[in-house]
Amino acid sequence: MSEKNIKELDDIKQQALLGLSSLGSVDQLENWRVRYLGRKGDLTNVLRGISNLPIDDRKIVGSKANKLRIYLEEEYQVNLSKIKSGNLDIQDAIDITLPGRKVKMGRLHPSTTMIREIIQAFNEMGFQTVEGDEIELEKYNFDMLNIPADHPARDQWDTIWIDSDQHDDLLLRTHTSPMQARVMEKNDPQVRVIVPGKCYRYEATDATHEWHFNQIEGLAVDTNITFADLKGTLYEFVKKIFGPSRKVRFRCDFFPFVEPGVDMSIDWNGRWIEIMGAGMVHPKVLEAVGYDTEKYTGFAFGMGPERISMLQNEITDIRHFYSNDLRFLSQF
Ligand code: PHE
Repeated sequence: MSEKNIKELDDIKQQALLGLSSLGSVDQLENWRVRYLGRKGDLTNVLRGISNLPIDDRKIVGSKANKLRIYLEEEYQVNLSKIKSGNLDIQDAIDITLPGRKVKMGRLHPSTTMIREIIQAFNEMGFQTVEGDEIELEKYNFDMLNIPADHPARDQWDTIWIDSDQHDDLLLRTHTSPMQARVMEKNDPQVRVIVPGKCYRYEATDATHEWHFNQIEGLAVDTNITFADLKGTLYEFVKKIFGPSRKVRFRCDFFPFVEPGVDMSIDWNGRWIEIMGAGMVHPKVLEAVGYDTEKYTGFAFGMGPERISMLQNEITDIRHFYSNDLRFLSQF
């Protein structure tokens, strides 16, 4: 008994699918639906007859018939949307009366523009550009820069550490200075490099502090490099970026990896504004990479391009650089 019903269901399925393949309009599809799924449709007939079947057959035929109903209903929906979208009149889909609009040109991010300008200034003075990784080892970010564990100077660089099962010495670099050690480790003097890159600090943000920012590191190591070279090079840089008559000032400052250490300020409408840290590379840093400290000396510096751009372009809040507001970004 149930075999006959099952054969019937198979036939309905076959015919329904065959019929579906030749449909082209919503009306035709509606006829198809009435024929197979409607109140007097083929499938509904089978479902109605189920109560007359022996109890064992009811289950089998019933479940198969219900599956087929769901399947055909889905097919109906799929074909309905196909027909509808396929028949869309082009006039309805596109407003051909709408005037054309100019495609907006993209542009470089102000940080990128500034970084390139700074790098260019140093390239012209013989510095070569290199880049490093944003994930760094504690050893390069601190130890090799004469900042041993538990040294209070580490507090100067609030660090974001990386949680890892395999390592407990991974961090997001807090400055680009680790590249000093990495470059010297791989190269004998002379060294003249400029290193742009992103840095991260675990810090509350305000108008002049971001938790991520760019830095540009510079390093020159050779025989006979003196503090006068540091001053001359950085003064030349300021002239290239801020114009030939800009006044500069150097003051003593402390960074564990330089000795003596300084900060450099520029005259800004009668005020001194600090733009970078610098100094003569500390002998301990040179020793850590195996350089002969009797033979070689060097200078290093580090600056934030966003900070330089803020001065150059009179930007009052560093957070604008990363808030993705086109009203800000499209001004540069
Ligand atoms: N790395 C220092 C900082 O992040 C800047 C610096 C670089 C100072 C090189 C001296 C020499 O503050």
